[in-house]
Amino acid sequence: MSSEIEIPTTRTASYEADPAQVHRVLLLYSGGLDTSVMLKWIQDSYGAEVVCLTVNLGQPGEDYEVIKGKALKLGALDCHVVDAREEFAREFIAPAIKANALYGGGYPLFTALGRPLIAKLAVEYARRSGCDTIAHGCTGKGNDQVRIEATVATLAPELKVIAPVRSWQMGREEEIAYAREHGIPIKGGSEATPYSIDDNLWGRSSEGRWIEDLDHAPEDDVFQLITRPEEAPDEPETVVLSFERGIPVALNGERLPLVELIEAAAEIAARHGVGIVDHIEDRIVGLKVRDIYEAPAAALLLPAHQELERLVCTIHQNQFKPELDRQWAYLVYAGLWWEPLRGDLDAYMDRVNEQVTGKIGLKLYKGHARVITRSSPNAVYDAALASFSESGGLFSQAASPGFIELWSLQSRMAWRLHNE
Ligand code: ARG
Repeated sequence: MSSEIEIPTTRTASYEADPAQVHRVLLLYSGGLDTSVMLKWIQDSYGAEVVCLTVNLGQPGEDYEVIKGKALKLGALDCHVVDAREEFAREFIAPAIKANALYGGGYPLFTALGRPLIAKLAVEYARRSGCDTIAHGCTGKGNDQVRIEATVATLAPELKVIAPVRSWQMGREEEIAYAREHGIPIKGGSEATPYSIDDNLWGRSSEGRWIEDLDHAPEDDVFQLITRPEEAPDEPETVVLSFERGIPVALNGERLPLVELIEAAAEIAARHGVGIVDHIEDRIVGLKVRDIYEAPAAALLLPAHQELERLVCTIHQNQFKPELDRQWAYLVYAGLWWEPLRGDLDAYMDRVNEQVTGKIGLKLYKGHARVITRSSPNAVYDAALASFSESGGLFSQAASPGFIELWSLQSRMAWRLHNE
């Protein structure tokens, strides 16, 4: 098997590695089948040394000692395990919250936010360990290859990239055969193809199997994070989220660092079946793909933030910002985290979010989370002015007819022109 799979010799992009120049490779290693096969295959085919990097972005249930042990056993010079949860929360999730970031109306971008950080760390560790090349396990069909390679090519023009899974086109069966032949331990043996999973602190995605059949309703076993709504508690639960300058800082009155707050929010939402998204997505590489997302923390924090932001912003800001939010989400989805426009947009997001301080209460019940209370010292709201029974102050009801006459002027003129 190994001898049949050739190293690619033609290169399309300037950042792709020339096989003769590949001496030491930084491999983004998860411990799964693809990257374990890669680890062996790179050593055998390129005659290169491999240094592994495994990034902890808060994906649940990983044993990093086991992953590191596996890498070393498969011949890695070293396997660095980096806990990047704090940086991920502060530098990637927090800006996403400020931008109310959802792509395609439902995807909170957890994978899209994680990839530029993983690739940035790959660059750092490649440089530190004297690597000339970075290897990742993305296929040629997804967005992740774009996010990782765009990051490497942007931050480190001197480093090259190889993407063996994309070029060798081994199927799962062939990978398993290769693994057997080379003494690579396989979890779960040769059972039916598993879902393709990616997860971190901000959410979890599943692809593949029946998910590719758009007409197939979700099977229960895909939900590994979130309780199915029909099995959620019969009693609703209320959660109060406090924000300061757009950042969530407390849950039910308890101040928590962002990572812990996200974990706590995820736990409560998951228990109540909140955060399931069954999503058809326009990928940047042209395809439409269906994903099943479980994003419990995002399902509370994003709506709460958005509600508070709307309360403290004017009608004009509220008309304008969603346009920029959408642009922000698209850039990040599309792998252009390092694009200056994202920084420009962040400056605007930060500026608006200076006012986003206050509390939002949500009621969770069997798959739904609904805002039920709001408070903010910065609310552009005056209960007396809004009241049906009060009049006076800044608002003059007597001024309303004059306003309506001018406000509707052009519409009335046009109506007459077109209808008479
Ligand atoms: N469709 C999502 C995205 O493009 C999730 C991708 C998950 N990645 C994966 N390798 N399974 O961001």
